Amino acid sequence: MNILLTGASRGIGAELAQSLTGSGHRVLMVSRNKKALEQLAKTCNQQAGSELAHPIPFDLSDLTDLEDAFISRIRAHTGTIDALFNNAAQLIRKPFQQIALQDARRLFEVNFFVPAQLIRICLPFMADSELKHVVSVTSMAGFQGSGKYSGLSYYSASKAALGNLSECLAVEFAEEGVKVNALAIGSVQTEMLAESFPGFKAPLGPHQMAEFMHWFILHGGKFFNGKILPVSVSTP
Ligand SMILES: NC(=O)c1ccc[n+]([C@@H]2O[C@H](COP(=O)([O-])OP(=O)(O)OC[C@H]3O[C@@H](n4cnc5c(N)ncnc54)[C@H](OP(=O)(O)O)[C@@H]3O)[C@@H](O)[C@H]2O)c1
Repeated sequence: MNILLTGASRGIGAELAQSLTGSGHRVLMVSRNKKALEQLAKTCNQQAGSELAHPIPFDLSDLTDLEDAFISRIRAHTGTIDALFNNAAQLIRKPFQQIALQDARRLFEVNFFVPAQLIRICLPFMADSELKHVVSVTSMAGFQGSGKYSGLSYYSASKAALGNLSECLAVEFAEEGVKVNALAIGSVQTEMLAESFPGFKAPLGPHQMAEFMHWFILHGGKFFNGKILPVSVSTP
């Protein structure tokens, strides 16, 4: 399978890239950090014994660039995308009253508008695929009825919006056979978590979460469509 994975340079995304290439899938890996992506691709390709990891260093926050520059970067690697995995995100943990509009807009751009635009861009690449699965990583922080955290207002709202978009697009893309789901994950021990919740110990590591996501990308569309699934060992 050909999988477009955003946020591959570290954390859950880096583990997922290794897991997928380790099983023979081609992964187009996107993040801003060229060096980290190239290093990861080297590791993945050595482990796989084949050129399966393809780094695409790209700043996804510029929506205007997505249209031409990003599409041509995808075309340079493949004509078909079987699955899109929207994993890249930005987190702001700050009191609501102190978050400037431009910072809130930037966060919504990376966490909501970019995944939305990537879905639009990837749809034509999925036409010949048998899988056709769009999976977006949201958060328990943006899951209806879950416990909320002070300081995560815009982050949580952006994740809730992305989950809702997944529900809507599953209906809209039903005729094309494209499955669209969101995984509202609980805490995972990554740099993002350590930076925003210093000292907190998550019940899962990125490797464990990546193993579940690997399975879900390939098989989740047979069981779920238009769903926001809480992936958490604690009760929301
Ligand atoms: N860890 C948790 O406890 C937790 C809980 C709930 C939900 N989540 C969600 O799970 C996903 C992965 O989280 P994580 O903890 O692995 O986060 P992370 O370690 O901070 O990784 C985030 C990734 O997103 C990329 N990224 C951010 N802005 C980008 C941009 N403008 N353009 C391209 N790439 C960009 C980063 O790469 P560069 O810096 O190289 O660009 C990085 O690879 C996120 O969607 C997060 O919101 C995580």
